[in-house]
Amino acid sequence: MILEQPFVQSFIQMGTDGYDLGWHERNGGNLSYRLKPSEVEAVKSELNLNNPWTPIGVQVENLGGEYFLVTGSGRFFRHLSDRPLESLGFIELDETGTSYRIVYGFENGGKPTSELPSHLMNHAVKVAIDPEYRIIYHAHTTNLIALTFVLPLQDEVFTRELWEMATECPVVFPEGVGVIGWMVPGSIEIAYATSNKMKDYDLAIWAHHGTFAAGKDFDTTFGLMHTAEKAAEILVKVLSMSPNKAQTIQPQDFRDVADAFRVTLDERFLYNK
Ligand code: 13P
Ligand code: ZN
Repeated sequence: MILEQPFVQSFIQMGTDGYDLGWHERNGGNLSYRLKPSEVEAVKSELNLNNPWTPIGVQVENLGGEYFLVTGSGRFFRHLSDRPLESLGFIELDETGTSYRIVYGFENGGKPTSELPSHLMNHAVKVAIDPEYRIIYHAHTTNLIALTFVLPLQDEVFTRELWEMATECPVVFPEGVGVIGWMVPGSIEIAYATSNKMKDYDLAIWAHHGTFAAGKDFDTTFGLMHTAEKAAEILVKVLSMSPNKAQTIQPQDFRDVADAFRVTLDERFLYNK
């Protein structure tokens, strides 16, 4: 039974955890997972390989023939666990990476998330960097969104401000975070802009909308989103108390953390204020 597969259970658990943290009001957010060959084998006998192909709107050549587990468009994360067959489904990409077809799930007229172009282009960028990347997660992270109304929309500023809020941040996301200005969701343009950031980062913030995280397994991808959002929550509290910090973590402190935890931090984030 497909729904009993461990990766499907982890997918549902991750989405439910995000819902519990308040990141998925109504149908907000979406999640996609690129199956391992052994997982495709395990579910293949239950897939329907007769549905018509649908253009993705972008080409993801290096993902041709791959299978993905994806949340449904307009479906509620709140119902991932009690109505999984409506809330999620599997798609297969054609060999050219230009079309997909539904092979399981999305019951009662469902279809993959409207952000499928962003998900697949992000997967394509990440697979080219490291084939171990499997997960793209979009959440409506309250505090990260709030910060996009008050901070300059610059990678350097968001990275530095988030790093300062929790000592673990530069260790959890040493490459920093990308930020893009407001764009129409679900569009090809936002897919290109987001995947461009994914060349450098595992986190991309959409101004006044939400956050994308990329990762290799469910725990670390969720943990990445959670860590960045927690740092943003602290920053919102700090800014609510005072526009100025009385003290904070300094550039040399970050260099010391980098040495101690053997991570590389780009000096462009360690500017003097
Ligand atoms: P979907 O319901 O199509 O996944 O859209 C939700 C969303 O968050 C759009 O950015
Ligand atoms: Zn969204």
